[in-house]
Amino acid sequence: MFDLKTDRKSLLINLGGGVIGDMGGFCASTYMRGIPFIQVPTTLLSQVDASIGGKLGIDFYGLKNSIGLFHDPMAVLADPAFLKTLPPKELRSGFAEVIKHGLIRDLDLWKTITNVSDWSGQDWREIVYQSLVIKQKVVEQDPFENSIRKILNFGHTIGHAIEGVMIDIERPILHGEAVAAGMIAESFLSHRLGQLKAGELETITNYLISVYGFLPLKDLEFDKLLRKMSHDKKNRGTSINFSFLDSIGTASINHTASHEQIKESLDYYTHL
Ligand SMILES: NC(=O)c1ccc[n+]([C@@H]2O[C@H](COP(=O)([O-])OP(=O)(O)OC[C@H]3O[C@@H](n4cnc5c(N)ncnc54)[C@H](O)[C@@H]3O)[C@@H](O)[C@H]2O)c1
Ligand SMILES: [Zn+2]
Repeated sequence: MFDLKTDRKSLLINLGGGVIGDMGGFCASTYMRGIPFIQVPTTLLSQVDASIGGKLGIDFYGLKNSIGLFHDPMAVLADPAFLKTLPPKELRSGFAEVIKHGLIRDLDLWKTITNVSDWSGQDWREIVYQSLVIKQKVVEQDPFENSIRKILNFGHTIGHAIEGVMIDIERPILHGEAVAAGMIAESFLSHRLGQLKAGELETITNYLISVYGFLPLKDLEFDKLLRKMSHDKKNRGTSINFSFLDSIGTASINHTASHEQIKESLDYYTHL
């Protein structure tokens, strides 16, 4: 940007997935104490999740999003036409966030997506829009994640740990694949320790497995997973923080589970 003689009146347009959006947004927000930027997200994940909510982070010192800030773009322009060239694996990964949005906030969205049996030729316009509006409404209520914004972490406490351990053992998987497994385990905890009914747990599990299949989590060392969960920056003190589903379409925040119960939730997954 210096080489291009970008000045304070310049506008940065971030055309790409979540990596470009986060990195470009971070650069724009810090360059000369901040120049305006526009997000043009081109992956499903960035359209329904990363481009909304003002979080801009980069990984540093081996820690995810360890440097960053909150800053909103001037605009987000999400065009589902970009999704036509996205590899199916990436599309499926981003779709986990759409499923999450339905589960935590919108029974209608859940019903819409679970009724689609053939995704080829799917018009994503409505689904992307419904999904990003859910995230937008949540972050507007609680921009700095002091309370309700935490429901967006559903599936991510365990999901992030799985994603991190898989990177460490050099068998990386996509974010959404880890979050899908995390949502199954955390739905189990929502049932075991919260209000989620057994029938809904089964419905959620069956659907997620039908889309994502099984990850070989049996081979992962539980202690390693636990260590990752304990390092999550969302925790306070030593307890591990969870958001639970109360039912399909509603969620609640600030739950905890013991190590034993977390182990049980992973056993539930591996014994399906
Ligand atoms: N700021 C936030 O709130 C937030 C939220 C979630 C995720 N993130 C961040 O987002 C990143 C992940 O984003 P992502 O899943 O978009 O990954 P990504 O940006 O790495 O994109 C995935 C791949 O798809 C390619 N690609 C992008 N658009 C394409 C298109 N239209 N057609 C074909 N290929 C295309 C990219 O080159 C890349 O190889 C992570 O770094 C994560 O930390 C940020
Ligand atoms: Zn996510």
